[in-house]
Amino acid sequence: MAYSDKVLDHYENPRNVGSFDKGDNEVGTGMVGAPACGDVMKLQIKVGEDGKITDAKFKTYGCGSAIASSSLVTEWVKGKTLDQALEIKNTAIAEELALPPVKIHCSILAEDAIKAAVEDYRKKHAS
Ligand code: FES
Ligand code: FES
Repeated sequence: MAYSDKVLDHYENPRNVGSFDKGDNEVGTGMVGAPACGDVMKLQIKVGEDGKITDAKFKTYGCGSAIASSSLVTEWVKGKTLDQALEIKNTAIAEELALPPVKIHCSILAEDAIKAAVEDYRKKHAS
């Protein structure tokens, strides 16, 4: 299948690949898997004192669309509050990357990964 230019760009030059220390109090980690294909995505956010996301990193073991989706959202979440990050919809990711219908679940993986990362961060700070 043919990938769009934007998918290829993020696939060939992925932004923000890597990891933060999971135990770091400023870090939220989301790890999700796609039942449809078995791909796995880890997405981490780093949150500043003002409650805004200052940095994000990902590691994705999956297809080009999943890698591009995670690369894109690590760029999108920077500067956002946690609530704003939760508003990122997979449909916006799919639209930005011009994903075909069979690759929509790759963008859902990225949306789920952000949600999981925010949840992890909030769990650490709930008390
Ligand atoms: Fe091939 Fe996801 S199905 S990498
Ligand atoms: Fe399954 Fe892309 S995440 S094919």
